[in-house]
Amino acid sequence: MFPNNWCKWTPVALSADVPAGTVIPAWTPTGDVALWRSQSGQLSASSDRCPHRGMRLSHGFVRGEALACIYHGWSYGRDGACLRIPAHPDLQPPASINTRNQITTEREGIVWVVNEAQDEPPPSFDGYWPLRSMTFQASIAALEAAAGAKADISGLIRCTLGGETAFLLAVTKGEAETIVHVLADKNASLAQRIAISQAGEQLRRDAESADALEGAN
Ligand code: FES
Repeated sequence: MFPNNWCKWTPVALSADVPAGTVIPAWTPTGDVALWRSQSGQLSASSDRCPHRGMRLSHGFVRGEALACIYHGWSYGRDGACLRIPAHPDLQPPASINTRNQITTEREGIVWVVNEAQDEPPPSFDGYWPLRSMTFQASIAALEAAAGAKADISGLIRCTLGGETAFLLAVTKGEAETIVHVLADKNASLAQRIAISQAGEQLRRDAESADALEGAN
């Protein structure tokens, strides 16, 4: 999970990776979600399992303000309620057909999800520029070793990538898998951002090979 033990929110994606009218898969400690943004720009996190026959809703598509399943076309609203069953167009779907949505919010270009209402908002990363999200097949310890730094109290690993200062917002998905949101300083130039983003690939290779070496010993 997110390394801050005081934070129940999980950073799951960058806002830029979920433009209006799209859906992507995302991971939270309480289950996979289909993260989708309606045509009007509203963000939702639906359980990534269609209540009908279990197809992943992240394989589906957004139509207007609803998320439709790719298999039989059942569609769901932002509150999770089933809105339409194409094979029975005159049927009002019962309230029991529901995708069990989680709570989402966005702060400074980062999408956060939590499964129950919180008094506190997610942490602010004002002053940073979100660059990309990556999945490492490596433990957070291997990531920290490859980055040459530990996560601080805010959950950020401050390191140097491509000769530039970079910040890694890391989420432990499992013992050997870590999701990393790479951030740059807000004042970083385009060339600096590109250098950081490209160097993230080498960081991933270093962390993954360190874990592989550890496993072989
Ligand atoms: S499995 Fe989703 S509509 Fe049938």
